[in-house]
Amino acid sequence: MLAIDLRGRRALVAGVADDAGFGFAIAKALAEAGASICVGTWPPALTIFQNLLERGKMAESLRLSDNRTMEFERIYPLDAAYDTLAEAPAEVRENKRYKERGDFSLEGVATRLREDFGEGGLDIVIHSLANGPEVRNALLDTSRKGYLEAVSVSAYSNIGLVRHLAPLMRPGGSFLSLTYMASERVIPGYGGGMSSAKAALESDTRTLAFEAGRRFGVRVNSISAGPLASRAASAIGLIQRMIEYTRANSPLTRELEAMDVGYLGAFLSSPLAAGITGTVVYADNGYHAMGMGVTGPGTIGGTA
Ligand SMILES: NC(=O)c1ccc[n+]([C@@H]2O[C@H](COP(=O)([O-])OP(=O)(O)OC[C@H]3O[C@@H](n4cnc5c(N)ncnc54)[C@H](O)[C@@H]3O)[C@@H](O)[C@H]2O)c1
Repeated sequence: MLAIDLRGRRALVAGVADDAGFGFAIAKALAEAGASICVGTWPPALTIFQNLLERGKMAESLRLSDNRTMEFERIYPLDAAYDTLAEAPAEVRENKRYKERGDFSLEGVATRLREDFGEGGLDIVIHSLANGPEVRNALLDTSRKGYLEAVSVSAYSNIGLVRHLAPLMRPGGSFLSLTYMASERVIPGYGGGMSSAKAALESDTRTLAFEAGRRFGVRVNSISAGPLASRAASAIGLIQRMIEYTRANSPLTRELEAMDVGYLGAFLSSPLAAGITGTVVYADNGYHAMGMGVTGPGTIGGTA
């Protein structure tokens, strides 16, 4: 049987703070395939996440298909807005949600991974985080500061992850990010420069694939996912409408599940995808292929 076998491999999934998003789903699929999982969690969300785990609130979603429970080998504090701790302003470092957490920068996570697992202790990195403080503003009404923050946290952070972590990876290492088609088509309501950040993320996927491929022998890909009512997406405000619209107008009208993206993430991170790099792969029930909406009931173009 052809199987995805990630036994003996270690993944860092950056951007997990509950069990509702794509990061969690990819972590779960990687764990199903036998990988050990470390996560990077945004300090403001870290205490709540730890409480959810300790109180058993995630017991159901942590259960794997063979009845094992997914364990997180490490939970590292990570604020992807900062490459080094020195870059974080004093008010952030002194904030009570950050203060006792140690070095929460990208460099800090790389240092901890090196201390915990040594050189060559990492195989898979998932970038599943985004933040646009003005996401509810039209691009036209987005401030320079809000725009730059969206691009910094949601796109530049992926460059930082590759730069800091590629040197730790074993041969065959894989980086994967999550993007959205608002990078290439207009999605009304997906504002604040988040569409720009996703366009940058996708372009960088190609350039990083070349540069990090040549320098470190790693692969760099991105998944363009359809809408999912995660915690981050719910903050946009329009997520239910986006889900319903996309479902009504996609080639496949089944509900898009987080695990659809989880399994694709496990495949792209595995040796089975050894020849795939620099690509953006859609997991969206085919919505990206449509050029016209399906309006109302009836038969259109041979579909029921
Ligand atoms: N949900 C969707 O409809 C959708 C569609 C396509 C792509 N995506 C992308 O999928 C990825 C994961 O998002 P999700 O929707 O699964 O939501 P999610 O809430 O599960 O994940 C977003 C994570 O980003 C973290 N985060 C925010 N700012 C951070 C920072 N400065 N440093 C570190 N972490 C930070 C949050 O704490 C959260 O854990 C994002 O890149 C998102 O843009 C989502």
